[in-house]
Amino acid sequence: MVWMYVVISLAAVVVAKANQEIVALQSPRIAIVGAGAGGAAAAFYLQNSSNQSFDIVVYESADRIGGRVETFDDGEGHPIELGASLFVPANKNLIDAARFFDLSLMKHGSDKHATNESDNIKADSFGIWNGKSFLYKRPRSESYIGSIARLLYRYGFDIVRFQRQRQRAIESFLDLYNQPFHDLTDAAYAAGLTDYTMSNGTALFESFGIGSKFIQELGLAATRGNYLQNIDEIQGLAAMVSLSTDNAYSVKGGNWQIFDKMLKNASAALLLNTSVIAVQPGADPKDPWIVRSSDGVRAFDQVVIATPFHSSNISVHSSSGDLVKVQPVYYLHMHVTIVSASSRLDPEYFNLKPDTYVPESIVNCDSDTNAADLPFHTISLVQTRCVTSSSCQYIYKIFSLRKLKPDFYSEIFPSGTEIYWDYSKEWDSFPRLDPTTHFQSFVLDSNGLWYLNGMEQFISTMETSTLAARNVANLIIQKFL
Ligand SMILES: Cc1cc2nc3c(=O)[nH]c(=O)nc-3n(C[C@H](O)[C@H](O)[C@H](O)COP(=O)(O)OP(=O)(O)OC[C@H]3O[C@@H](n4cnc5c(N)ncnc54)[C@H](O)[C@@H]3O)c2cc1C
Ligand SMILES: *[C@@H]1O[C@H](CO)[C@@H](O)[C@H](O)[C@H]1NC(C)=O
Ligand SMILES: *[C@@H]1O[C@H](CO)[C@@H](O)[C@H](O)[C@H]1NC(C)=O
Ligand SMILES: *[C@@H]1O[C@H](CO)[C@@H](O)[C@H](O)[C@H]1NC(C)=O
Ligand SMILES: *[C@@H]1O[C@H](CO)[C@@H](O)[C@H](O)[C@H]1NC(C)=O
Ligand SMILES: *[C@@H]1O[C@H](CO)[C@@H](O)[C@H](O)[C@H]1NC(C)=O
Ligand SMILES: *[C@@H]1O[C@H](CO)[C@@H](O)[C@H](O)[C@H]1NC(C)=O
Ligand SMILES: *[C@@H]1O[C@H](CO)[C@@H](O)[C@H](O)[C@H]1NC(C)=O
Repeated sequence: MVWMYVVISLAAVVVAKANQEIVALQSPRIAIVGAGAGGAAAAFYLQNSSNQSFDIVVYESADRIGGRVETFDDGEGHPIELGASLFVPANKNLIDAARFFDLSLMKHGSDKHATNESDNIKADSFGIWNGKSFLYKRPRSESYIGSIARLLYRYGFDIVRFQRQRQRAIESFLDLYNQPFHDLTDAAYAAGLTDYTMSNGTALFESFGIGSKFIQELGLAATRGNYLQNIDEIQGLAAMVSLSTDNAYSVKGGNWQIFDKMLKNASAALLLNTSVIAVQPGADPKDPWIVRSSDGVRAFDQVVIATPFHSSNISVHSSSGDLVKVQPVYYLHMHVTIVSASSRLDPEYFNLKPDTYVPESIVNCDSDTNAADLPFHTISLVQTRCVTSSSCQYIYKIFSLRKLKPDFYSEIFPSGTEIYWDYSKEWDSFPRLDPTTHFQSFVLDSNGLWYLNGMEQFISTMETSTLAARNVANLIIQKFL
């Protein structure tokens, strides 16, 4: 029962803004559940987009911020992203925030050859593997123009057709920055974006007049590579996003820094190691919401849930006392493994002649094997560290739905390869992105209970988490104007 909880006043944790009297009693009290991209951005935009000051408490069950943005650091100063690794120039919120906080952006992958390696690499070599042979191999040391020419040669005018459609989709997507809007379903429909999300990728691309070679090779490689899903199953917008990772950026030193800066800049009280257990209406109208966590019980004016609902273990009751329900979503459970080896991948594993160059990034597009049984989904070389030109560490990142087999390294690396170290992490990564036109509303209760992660059914990226957060921040700000 809600009203039995002892309410701890927040006034004690208020952080005064510069040149300002402490206005604790007037500042709206906001609870944010989750210190990932969404939660951090919600805190930041609340403070930065208005002159109103808010007393913000951010609850985070883990002992670090960032959520699915996590950077692995082996202590040698070459960080590697375990979760979200890249964003694109159209990701306005992330780019603006990185600039605002003076963080350096780098071209994604430009730290791949962090130390001097004798050979000169111009373009990433990339391969689409079907379990037996490479369907497509972009060779090493090819210029950008050369690789475009090769694509045009293989996929013809479909490349141009796709780029034209992508440009249209990006323009529609930019409509969602005209905020706030109340309902994602309506906003996506108004922007024409449900035309993309209602069909699977194959059907959408076919409606663009794109041929099956493009869909079955580049398209499938992109949806498998990014979301571990097949192009004929994943909704069309996610398929287009998957094919739009060219010219990508990362933050030098780790993407988590954007969200760390956002939280600090918002002067939010951050409670790490603190799980929210329940959110319920308060008995006193002055305390509309009660948040119960492993840290105790506090009262708030507004509550923002910024984590996938079903894995959060929070019991939520609306102001009328009903149990709040959220559209069920299935998150793919996956493994990310980083391995440092003394050799590059073995050509033999890929049925290539000895001494043939194996592409640096490989997507497994084997469609004869059940997705869950594939030995790996993607393997990519993320860094090469050479002490001398003959003594290098080749560091690979592997995505898989299943745990890697114990003998996997001895299969993919030539015999005699030394494995220096490896590290692996499991994620409930992203939703299974079925075609849909209906998205979970941001509003769980019009009395000030908000939910951000319905956005992930639409597109699951860092940028869209910040977009949902910014929209909800704007809706909250409107309430207190
Ligand atoms: C392997 C992988 C690769 C990816 N690659 C990219 C990419 O290249 N580019 C890109 O843009 N996106 C990528 N993504 C997607 C991106 O990481 C997510 O869309 C985004 O980070 C989600 O942020 P969020 O804040 O909405 O959720 P989360 O990051 O999941 O944050 C939720 C937080 O809430 C906390 N929490 C949960 N329950 C509770 C509770 N009861 N109480 C308190 N705290 C709680 C969690 O610990 C977590 O920190 C990738 C994801 C994965 C897994
Ligand atoms: C904050 O107040 C200043 C001065 O009154 C005003 O110029 C500015 O537009 C306000 N900013 C916002 C975001 O409301
Ligand atoms: C969180 O808990 C872990 C494990 O119990 C502990 O090592 C860590 O210091 C705690 N961190 C914080 C910020 O409380
Ligand atoms: C923060 O607010 C300022 C002042 O309104 C604005 O100029 C700036 O762009 C905002 N920062 C971000 C990252 O949105
Ligand atoms: C993809 O969509 C088309 C058109 O709606 C449909 O015929 C096809 O069965 C779908 N594919 C899958 C795997 O669901
Ligand atoms: C937020 O960041 C801006 C830009 O770096 C800075 O001017 C401002 O002082 C910061 N505010 C706080 C409270 O850290
Ligand atoms: C939710 O509960 C499950 C099962 O008890 C647990 O594995 C998971 O870590 C919990 N999630 C959070 C965010 O505490
Ligand atoms: C790489 O750099 C190291 C240290 O700066 C140097 O000793 C080595 O000769 C260089 N190797 C090559 C191949 O240039």
